[in-house]
Amino acid sequence: MGSLSPSRSQVLSLFPFALASILVIGIVKLYLENSHSVRIRLHPARRSYPAGFISLSEASVVSRCNVFDGKWVFDNATRPLYREQSCPYLTKQVTCKKNGRPDSLYQNWRWKPNSCELPKFDAVTLLEILRDKTMMLIGDSIQRTQWESLVCLIQSSIIGGRKSLYRDPPMKIFYAEEFNAKIVFYWNPFVVESNSDHALKHTVYKRLVNLDTVAKHSKHWKGVDVLVFESYVWWMYKPVINATSWEWRPGSDENCFNETHPIEGRTYWGTGSSLEIMGAVADVLREMKTNVTYMNITQLSEFRKDGHTTVYTERRGKLLTKEQKADPKTYGDCIHWCLPGVPDTWNEILYAYLLHDFYHLFNTTQ
Ligand SMILES: *[C@@H]1O[C@H](CO)[C@@H](O)[C@H](O)[C@H]1NC(C)=O
Ligand SMILES: *[C@@H]1O[C@H](CO)[C@@H](O)[C@H](O)[C@H]1NC(C)=O
Ligand SMILES: *[C@@H]1O[C@H](CO)[C@@H](O)[C@H](O)[C@H]1NC(C)=O
Ligand SMILES: *[C@@H]1O[C@H](CO)[C@@H](O)[C@H](O)[C@H]1NC(C)=O
Ligand SMILES: *[C@@H]1O[C@H](CO)[C@@H](O)[C@H](O)[C@H]1NC(C)=O
Repeated sequence: MGSLSPSRSQVLSLFPFALASILVIGIVKLYLENSHSVRIRLHPARRSYPAGFISLSEASVVSRCNVFDGKWVFDNATRPLYREQSCPYLTKQVTCKKNGRPDSLYQNWRWKPNSCELPKFDAVTLLEILRDKTMMLIGDSIQRTQWESLVCLIQSSIIGGRKSLYRDPPMKIFYAEEFNAKIVFYWNPFVVESNSDHALKHTVYKRLVNLDTVAKHSKHWKGVDVLVFESYVWWMYKPVINATSWEWRPGSDENCFNETHPIEGRTYWGTGSSLEIMGAVADVLREMKTNVTYMNITQLSEFRKDGHTTVYTERRGKLLTKEQKADPKTYGDCIHWCLPGVPDTWNEILYAYLLHDFYHLFNTTQ
């Protein structure tokens, strides 16, 4: 990764769901309005969008607040941030309502850090930050969900249909024409080479990785301005997650089916989390030469036992049958997430970091 970027680079990580990296390079089109706010200048010929605006208070949220320490609050006034049926880019894996999920409260929770508020997600500001840039999300199906969420969060703000989606396996590329901004998903579940690298044809039962071989993929990351990595699949040792019945509702048959409320309280960790390994990862990231930001979203996601796709999803490309839906113990998916849902919050946090980096990059290049 050292080869990736010149001067200022920042790497973000979402972990274990996403191990993220950010490399913000290039000249940014900003001017300083005053010392406490940055207004994003629109291209002179493009006046269809309101000028983006970044305040110092929003840009500094992640430097003065641990945004990963907080709780879920019910907020059906501002959540969900988009509608399942109005985003054409969602795959059937995540459209739980359309697939028959009867409850919808899982769409109404907002992440509230204990000592601050997350910046309000603004799609046009994000598109301006990404103007003439490429942001790439690299990982597995969990990461693909984060990418779908991100595309849904911004797509309705793009005026006049000047947006497109195209597939170039292992990539899915969303392009916002007027901003010349690309948001790319790159299928690469283990980051290193593996026998799961084919976006469609891969085994989940006998996975093999080739450690220390990143070049085959990383050559496609060169020149990308923002890299977001994720590592969920490293944490699975079998195709199902080790959830014991105490984690789910009494009588729930040891899975997440029928869960409608997040876990409350502040110290919950699921059996899938290893604090020891997470700590080791944080230590390694701290020692890297490239600036890495570790986005520690594990616990906030674990609180959301209500957010999984359960039986309202697909399996090997097909929606579950009525019979399969009636057997959540066998077919319930307690790994993937419904959209709108938890991955929207990962993106709100990613946005908070991008605001921070963009603001400070601008201020230091003045
Ligand atoms: C890495 O990040 C720190 C803190 O944000 C900053 O002080 C430092 O200059 C950065 N280093 C590089 C090489 O960008
Ligand atoms: C991640 O965040 C949680 C919740 O704030 C905290 O308990 C944990 O120590 C953090 N882990 C690391 C490695 O920073
Ligand atoms: C929001 O939740 C409150 C409290 O549960 C409820 O009274 C209200 O009808 C809900 N509003 C919407 C738009 O769902
Ligand atoms: C699953 O987690 C429980 C609780 O941590 C543990 O006791 C059990 O051994 C685990 N099961 C497997 C198969 O690892
Ligand atoms: C799901 O929840 C409903 C209502 O609480 C309950 O009647 C039903 O038995 C539950 N089903 C399972 C499989 O837990």
